[in-house]
Order: sequence, then C-alpha cells, then structure tokens
Amino acid sequence: MATATKSPAKKTTTKKVAEKKTTEKKTAGKSSASASAKKIPAKKGAAKELKDLFEDGLKDIYWAEKALAKALPKMQKNATSEKLKTAIADHLMETEKQITRLEDCFAALGKKAQAKKCDAMQGLLDEGKGIMEETKPGSVRDAGIISAAQKVEHYEIATYGTLAAFAKVLKEKECLSLLLKTLEEEKKCDELLTKIADTNLNEKAK
Ligand SMILES: [Fe+2]
Ligand SMILES: [Fe+2]
Repeated sequence: MATATKSPAKKTTTKKVAEKKTTEKKTAGKSSASASAKKIPAKKGAAKELKDLFEDGLKDIYWAEKALAKALPKMQKNATSEKLKTAIADHLMETEKQITRLEDCFAALGKKAQAKKCDAMQGLLDEGKGIMEETKPGSVRDAGIISAAQKVEHYEIATYGTLAAFAKVLKEKECLSLLLKTLEEEKKCDELLTKIADTNLNEKAK
C-alpha cells in the first residue's frame, strides 16, 4: 500500500520528502490516471478572456434553466405531498422569471440570448427521471424527487455564484444584480426543499 511505503520518510527533511513524493508519482504513475493526464488542447474559438468565459456560462445556464422548466412539471406530477407539489409549481414560475432575467443579462451585454447545451443539467435531469422510475409513488418517490431537485438547486447555486463573481470582476453591474436575485431564489428553494424533506422523512418514520 502506498501509505506503508511512505512511513520511512519520518527522519528525512521536508525537501527530501517532497523529492521522494515526486519520484513516487513518476514511477508509480505509469499506470495511474495522473500519468496519462494530458493538457487539453483548446478548441477553435475557445474563451480567451474572462468575458468570453462569462458569456459561455450564461449560455450554459440559459439552456439549463430552459431544460429545467420542461422537467419540473413531470416532477410535480410524480410528487404526492401537496407541499412538494406546490414548491415545485412555485419554482417553475420562478424558473420562468429566471429565464427572462438571463435574457435581460444578455441584453445588458449587447448580446442576443443564446443557449448552449449544459451536460451537467442534462445529467442531473436524467438522474431525476431515473429516480422516479426506481421508486414507488408516495413518500419514497417524494424523497427521491427532493434529492434530485436539491442536486439541481446546488448546481444552480454554484453556477450563479460563479457567474455573479465574474460579473463583479468584469464590472457588469446590471448582470450582477440580475444574477444575485436569481441566486437568492435558488438558495431559498433549496432551503424549502430541505424543510419539506425533513417533514416527509419524519412522517415516514412514524
Ligand atoms: Fe433556476
Ligand atoms: Fe432552481
């Protein structure tokens, strides 16, 4: 085991330990993932500036929100708890507003709103569909729907948090305020889902 071979380094200096680790990596790494890792060549038209990366991120989340707006009604239909159904319906309305907000953000940048497929959201939604197929309707499926929805919310929180940070650096004030508004909604939705999950699980445990 790798940990066992590292123990004799106790008496050596920090520099020697560092050198040893590098050598270990080089020798042991022949078959490891780190040795086969390569620098990925940039595609034609790849983002050079932070502004390009910011715009790419907006396109990505624009696609993600639109995909979510299509998926939420299915989640609502499959939920049993009235609280959960209402929360999903409310978030669908919010999501539609968020889509408009992103269009406003593109407009503030003088750009046409454009969607680019978000593989992460596609994966999260596929997983959500899978969870529904693998659970019987009722509190267990509700727990599955909540878990899938929270993964989506966490993804959105991370995305809007990053985009807001980019907007701040780029001094895109209008975008920043639009993105922060959405970020707040995503956080509140996540908190509400946690509350519903607690009630759902407690009732199930009774
Ligand atoms: Fe959203
Ligand atoms: Fe959301």
